[in-house]
Amino acid sequence: MSKLPTALQKLALPVIGSPLFIISNPKLVIEQCKAGIVGSMPALNARPAAQLEDWLAEITETLAAWDKAHPEQPSAPFAINQIVHKSNDRLEHDMQVCAQYKVPIVITSLGAREDVNQAVHSWGGVVLHDIINNKFAHKAVEKGADGLIAVAAGAGGHAGVKSPFALIQEIRQWFDGPLALSGSIASGGAILAAQAMGADFAYIGSAFIATHEARAVDGYKQAIVDSTSDDIVYSNLFTGVHGNYLAPSIRAAGLDPENLPVSDPSKMNFGGDAKKAWKDIWGCGQGIGAINEVTATADLVDRLKREYRQARERLQLG
Ligand SMILES: Cc1cc2nc3c(=O)[nH]c(=O)nc-3n(C[C@H](O)[C@H](O)[C@H](O)COP(=O)(O)O)c2cc1C
Repeated sequence: MSKLPTALQKLALPVIGSPLFIISNPKLVIEQCKAGIVGSMPALNARPAAQLEDWLAEITETLAAWDKAHPEQPSAPFAINQIVHKSNDRLEHDMQVCAQYKVPIVITSLGAREDVNQAVHSWGGVVLHDIINNKFAHKAVEKGADGLIAVAAGAGGHAGVKSPFALIQEIRQWFDGPLALSGSIASGGAILAAQAMGADFAYIGSAFIATHEARAVDGYKQAIVDSTSDDIVYSNLFTGVHGNYLAPSIRAAGLDPENLPVSDPSKMNFGGDAKKAWKDIWGCGQGIGAINEVTATADLVDRLKREYRQARERLQLG
């Protein structure tokens, strides 16, 4: 285990609920944090941009009230995800709002930027940067990220192709800072496995789509319950970057998931068009075989805690 920044030291379970484009919202983040795991959402989910301030006010005020009423069970810190890619023309505005609320953790994706890292450090925040290989991991740390999120094969949304074993092993040979593992984690045993491998946290996304709080249509939530890894398709057609998607949503859009054309990466876009693509084509990781019902976020985290405890007992870790 690495030495962790204070914000990440006292979680009830070593889990970060990952940011989900369109789907994450204050309700989901608040329930994740109340349950003792880091809750997060992309800044871009607040639309128009002015809504971000209202959302941060809602999250900080609700969690402060919770902490006052439940000193024995304090909330975990929350995180805001910034897409650092050049197509995100809201970055400056959204960073200013994050500074105003001294957001405890900022998750950066699709590019590492020194100025963004310095800005977060100026208000005492922690930066976690997501990467899909060891080369990008080095780059992120050189540019000042405090911690890394290793996005392995099988992760929902934009995902890499590396085995989690290879990725964590290579990163841990030189990096002893905070490290989260992302990709197909949806059970308490898998959280413990991530730690056994050398990660500090499990980074979980798709499992939270099938919760009452997630801002996804019922058909999407039910598809996660009904599907398995056999239904996940890896393609770069929809955003120009390779990612994992639910085959039924691709079929519903009139495409054959088994014969998708390859897209032109220079057309990469995370602005308005991305929203259209992600609304109809449902991002999802391979770990959803563990999701058997749509539940409250609190119940999902309870299950993960119970399974994590059982896995520790089974291995006689106490
Ligand atoms: C529908 C969907 C939307 C996502 N949107 C984002 C995003 O906006 N920003 C980001 O950094 N990661 C995004 N991700 C990736 C997740 O944060 C995370 O890496 C992934 O969900 C972990 O794998 P899992 O889904 O198998 O748990 C998204 C994933 C999904 C499934």
